[in-house]
Amino acid sequence: ASVKFIQPDGSEKIVDVPEGTSLMTAAIDNGVEGILGDCGGACSCATCHCYIDDAYFAKLPEAADVEKSMLEFAVEPKENSRLGCQVQVTEELSGLVVHIPESQY
Ligand code: FES
Repeated sequence: ASVKFIQPDGSEKIVDVPEGTSLMTAAIDNGVEGILGDCGGACSCATCHCYIDDAYFAKLPEAADVEKSMLEFAVEPKENSRLGCQVQVTEELSGLVVHIPESQY
């Protein structure tokens, strides 16, 4: 599935992501800056925080409670915040647009 990552400065990178891969892994594997994933995807660091484009946010399965709690530790969480390691890419999500935050700390 194709996923577009947009940096705070507006620069974009479109990557092809295998089904079942998390947004955090997809970003790191493709050299997308600004997604750190310090805990390796265990939902315990919030450095994979990202904003899902409004057109796609509702298409994602709802965040589990553990993700919602961890999002409170993200920098500047918003309504459309998710933790990248908890969002699995599927073919239905192809075209997904993800905004990278200014900072993870
Ligand atoms: Fe640590 Fe997502 S990689 S919470």
